Amino acid sequence: MLMSKPESGIFYRDYATRLPVAESAHGVWIETSDGRKYLDGMGSAGVIGIGHGRTEIYDALAREGQKVSYVYTASFTHPWQEKLADAVLSVAPKGMDAVYFVSGGSEANETALKLARQYHVERGEPKRHKMIARWQSYHGVTIATLSLSGRTSWRAAYDPYMLPVVHIAPPYEYRCAYCKDHGGCTYSCVDELERAILLEGPETISCFFAETIIGTTASGVTPPPDYYRRVREICDRYGILFIADEVLMGYGRTGRAFAIEDFGVVPDMITCGKAIGSGYAPLGAVIVNERITNFFREGQRRFVHGFTYSGHAASCFIGLQVFNIMQREGLFTRPARIGEYLHGRLRDLQQKHPLIGDVRGRGLYAGVEFVADRATRAPVAPGFNFTGRLVSAMRERGVIVGGGVPGANFGKDGDHIQISPPFTIEEEEIDILIDALDESLVQLAGQLDAQAAA
Ligand SMILES: Cc1ncc(COP(=O)(O)O)c(C=O)c1O
Repeated sequence: MLMSKPESGIFYRDYATRLPVAESAHGVWIETSDGRKYLDGMGSAGVIGIGHGRTEIYDALAREGQKVSYVYTASFTHPWQEKLADAVLSVAPKGMDAVYFVSGGSEANETALKLARQYHVERGEPKRHKMIARWQSYHGVTIATLSLSGRTSWRAAYDPYMLPVVHIAPPYEYRCAYCKDHGGCTYSCVDELERAILLEGPETISCFFAETIIGTTASGVTPPPDYYRRVREICDRYGILFIADEVLMGYGRTGRAFAIEDFGVVPDMITCGKAIGSGYAPLGAVIVNERITNFFREGQRRFVHGFTYSGHAASCFIGLQVFNIMQREGLFTRPARIGEYLHGRLRDLQQKHPLIGDVRGRGLYAGVEFVADRATRAPVAPGFNFTGRLVSAMRERGVIVGGGVPGANFGKDGDHIQISPPFTIEEEEIDILIDALDESLVQLAGQLDAQAAA
């Protein structure tokens, strides 16, 4: 089989797209059955941290892992989740105290929002049910996590199902309505958090959710240094829990175990997924701070929740192997160093291509936003499908990057890509990626000129 077939038994994600068949993958490379080789510049949706093809993980699973492959974690605990929790807590910010394992990012966020709710209810504050999140954000596909997500294009069809979530502006300085005339960030978007709380009634708010650094909805938007300290103060003032979604940015991607470390605050919960299993097993986690953990621990309370696969033994065993590799090879911090090279090369490319409006992100997560006019920051007309064309042009050159979700510019338009390769990527491989981006931008600039002349 060389390509996906519409008549196949798979209910495909998108019947408009024919997909090549991945046959093997090693390091940052994916090989397909038609003999092509692709550089995985998006780390397969930001999942792959330790690189593809680390077969030693499955060797270890065959040797020791099958001692307990699955037990129901309402009936038993098992060594793998216990050990993995200790490992994760050893790199988590001080003050985080316990870990609830799940199978992925949406489950992690769903678990966190329910834990926040039950915490308030049991403490005698049952009115606290509303959540606050930000526009241009993504927290998952379940109804509750999509309700949190400020990704308008994905919400549209499900709008009647959305839960009461208040959305505020993200710290998107490049397109911020608050600070564009003030020569820099004025932190007005954080003031908006407090205003939203006051308008809704502080006693009705359960939690504030934020991607520490924004992912695919506005690739790489990074708040100014004081942003989360102010968020933390506001949340504390009104008894609201602060939940940092690090499904994409956590577990080493930014060059820190957790991206929030750079902002000097401790959230009430950190959710993670993706790199914690690095694609070797479906795994996600909610890391809970000591205040909430102790409330349940000391009160001998039961969290009324739990998936059949919460704390799946084989997934946790694999998570432990991933953790050990990350520690042994310094992969929790390597993205900071190698990421400097990536960002440096992107900034150089920005000098050459006026189409590049903004380069942002941290470590091995780089977001690049494109504009038709750098001075006015006017986006390319959406009809041109700039992001789609760019991703295809790079793919033709053997490089996969993530196409940013349309509508970064407050739902209207806006083109951007995410570059989020495995943490093992080498400088020469970054050069291949940058060359493909460079050539593709030359091609697209030509197409735009041709269109303007027509
Ligand atoms: C920031 C963020 N949160 C949550 C999710 C949802 O995770 P999953 O797809 O594993 O359910 C994602 C997935 O891309 C994400 O990037």
